[in-house]
Amino acid sequence: MDKPIILSIDTSCDETSAAVTSGRLVLSNVISSQISIHQKYGGVYPALAKRAHQERIDYVVQKAIQNAKKNRFDAVAVTQGPGLAIALEVGIKKAKQISENPLAIRENHRLPLIAVNHLEGHIYSCLAQSVGGLPKREIIFPALCLVVSGGHTELVLMKNHGEYQLIGETLDDACGEALDKAAMILKLGYPGGPVIEKLASKGEALRSYILSQPLKDKKNLNFSYSGLKTQFLYLIQSLSQKEFSQNLQNLALSFQTACFEQITRKTSQAIRVYQPKMILCGGGVISNKTLRKLLRQTAKNNNLPVFFPPKKNLITDNAAMIGVAAYYKYLRGEFVKNIDLLDREPRMTLDSHKLQADSR
Ligand code: KG4
Ligand code: ZN
Repeated sequence: MDKPIILSIDTSCDETSAAVTSGRLVLSNVISSQISIHQKYGGVYPALAKRAHQERIDYVVQKAIQNAKKNRFDAVAVTQGPGLAIALEVGIKKAKQISENPLAIRENHRLPLIAVNHLEGHIYSCLAQSVGGLPKREIIFPALCLVVSGGHTELVLMKNHGEYQLIGETLDDACGEALDKAAMILKLGYPGGPVIEKLASKGEALRSYILSQPLKDKKNLNFSYSGLKTQFLYLIQSLSQKEFSQNLQNLALSFQTACFEQITRKTSQAIRVYQPKMILCGGGVISNKTLRKLLRQTAKNNNLPVFFPPKKNLITDNAAMIGVAAYYKYLRGEFVKNIDLLDREPRMTLDSHKLQADSR
């Protein structure tokens, strides 16, 4: 049987994205980045993000449909949260419009609407396939999911499709946010993750600085990054201009190493406690090659398979991952019951997700 064709939208932060998927196959994935708009503010400026989403959404949706060469759809999916409230609103409004007044040929036929948690999208990005149907992967439950992005650093135990238990999260800043702030301290611009990665790759481990780890003795699975950022700021302030400029690469390496040490330590701890059968990793920071290598090693040490999103444009924010997550909700019949009542949920969590979907 043909897999459902889903048109999906994500406007949770600073990418305006629309995609068309057929089951897990990505037929198109259009992403319009706003990086150049936010660069001078050193982070996302919400009002400008909203305006850019409004200006681009129609074009991005049309382009996704065009690239996929489809004109009939079985459902529309949209990110409900978490994310920036005024940015989420733009995507939700568009999805409602399409659902009630489909561009598809089906007359008088509303398209079912599926509301997706953005974090669920990052997790399901690992299952996305290109048109040939590769890679062929299946989740073995329970799976340990690690989401590392600009807004989140979370460990989630996935017991089945759509069943999540949050087992660890950041108590303050997210890992990507910390990398962005460190890049600001180093005056390197936004987003910080990619620049830090580039510099760190040229740093020398033996000449790097030691940053002490917060929560090192804590047995729980939570993360903390704000102390690390403050320590880094004090370190930079203590350096002479000469030492600073001669050690930029070593400084980037020091901060990146400290950020990732926490991720691998907590992931290993979660594996010991929860005994998962595999690991799924998603979120923008997973773009980092060093982090992927460390996580591959962690998985290997524990004899576990690990999945990363199979393509670069599935790692940072994109709508195809929302489409793949929506496919599993489609199979379970989890549609929005009352479209008028669907509202953005900027603080949506994965735990509350199933309950909300059921009660709607
Ligand atoms: O998932 P994402 O696109 O958006 C959110 O949902 O937050 O993640 C964006 C984050 C930013 O903090 C960015 O600096 C980080 O991902 N990032 C990276 C890399 N590419 C993007 N961090 C480390 N290394 C990278 N190569
Ligand atoms: Zn994201």
